[in-house]
Amino acid sequence: MPQRQHAAAIRAANESIISHLPRGGRRPLYHFTPPFGWMNDPNGLIFYKGQYHLFYQHNPYATHWARMHWGHAASRDLLDWTDLPVALAPSEIYDLATFGGCYSGSAWDAGDELILLYTGCVRRGEEEIQTQNIARSKDGLRFTKDEGNPVIVNPPPGGSMHFRDPKIWRQGEYFYAVLCTSMAGRGCVVLYRGVDLSNWAYRGVLLEAKEGEGWMWECPDFFPLDGQYVLTVSAMAAGDETNLWFAGSFDEKTERFIPHTRGKLDWGRDFYAAQTLLDDKNRRVLIPWAAQRSLRENVPADAPTKESGFCGQLGLPRALHLDTGGQLRFQPIEEMQTLRGEGRREEWLWLDERPYLLARQDSAGFEMNCTFDLDKSTADTVTLTFLHDPLHRTTLTLHLKLGQLLLCRDGTDDVTQGLDRLEFHQQNRLRLQLFFDRNSLEIFVSEGLQTLSANLFPQSVGMEIWLCAGGGRALLSDFDLWTLGGPFGDGNQNTL
Ligand code: FRU
Repeated sequence: MPQRQHAAAIRAANESIISHLPRGGRRPLYHFTPPFGWMNDPNGLIFYKGQYHLFYQHNPYATHWARMHWGHAASRDLLDWTDLPVALAPSEIYDLATFGGCYSGSAWDAGDELILLYTGCVRRGEEEIQTQNIARSKDGLRFTKDEGNPVIVNPPPGGSMHFRDPKIWRQGEYFYAVLCTSMAGRGCVVLYRGVDLSNWAYRGVLLEAKEGEGWMWECPDFFPLDGQYVLTVSAMAAGDETNLWFAGSFDEKTERFIPHTRGKLDWGRDFYAAQTLLDDKNRRVLIPWAAQRSLRENVPADAPTKESGFCGQLGLPRALHLDTGGQLRFQPIEEMQTLRGEGRREEWLWLDERPYLLARQDSAGFEMNCTFDLDKSTADTVTLTFLHDPLHRTTLTLHLKLGQLLLCRDGTDDVTQGLDRLEFHQQNRLRLQLFFDRNSLEIFVSEGLQTLSANLFPQSVGMEIWLCAGGGRALLSDFDLWTLGGPFGDGNQNTL
């Protein structure tokens, strides 16, 4: 009886979470974290019956990855999330495994039902068996797995056993889904078409990785945007290019996608498995998992936040646009402005090699926007130092003439390390928008043309912000700083 087994597994998961509440400790102010346990990818993002629904890869029993469940939360503004009962738990022959479970997928609004399509992953020896499965709910809370599961049993011809993460949409009379697999050692996105969500036919490869773009792709998304189609993927073993977007044309008749432009979804290491949703304002919003990729060697992923009862958080939601040059742009959603508290503005500040104390910030959450006038600046570099305490600092160095931005976390804390590099286009001005929260920094460069996301775990909550220029003078033509409050400052709401 699948229903009975699943209901029991859900009950046990919710009990585990509740027994570990209340949440607290090292929680961010305005980034989503699971009430207890581990989280990775956002799943099934959907605007359904007036609310945003977020599902996510979740282990409700511990702060490490195992036994993947789908956690669930809902929100009216994409920022203030209310925890809901766990939506999917491993319970069936196709998804019951310690090193497996209910893997990533997507949601569909069928009016009277909310339907999930997800990957079930189990193991047979060294082999993984990944199949695609359906679960449905009448109330948007309790999900029942279909008796007819799996709805896609085998990988497509030529595909490997890695075959996962369906993202659904509808076009005309058909449903479509993109999934990832690997073929001949290269990541690919494959296309399926169905007359309904249970009967799928393989249609072919939508896009295959080029040399160096990864042996396996994960978490694909495919959607129309500003007159073109955009494909996004997370790439395994693709060097710095772990998150890619491709924009181009999709011929609905031939079902062929021809990319014209490509780029990185983010230039940082702590960003992965992003998924998008379309909301009632017709916005295409991208939400990433703030993956823990910048930890020092031998530091377990949950080390920085284990004591606080969780590991993993989401990145900021970003509204997407394609500009006329075919470049994908990322704007922090406008709802972010509702978090702004006290603000401060300065204009026309000349910087030289003498460090200048720009601000002393007591709160872990703040937003800082600055514009550098590159025409008037003679400096080679501008360095922003975020001094967490006398011994710990994060530095952001702008190489104005090389067009590089370097974020260094070697001295930030005891757990993260390394340099992240972003290459920007030199124009007459450089605009940066920085969002700090307790465990993260997200940088939006040049009106959202590029972003860089990073996790950081300094001990102290506040910081001093110092600025200086090297090799000449630099003009900071405007600077705004706002303290950001956040829905999670007083702990999450939950209706578990
Ligand atoms: C990406 C991913 C997905 C998979 C899930 C399992 O982070 O590996 O491909 O469905 O995580 O948790």
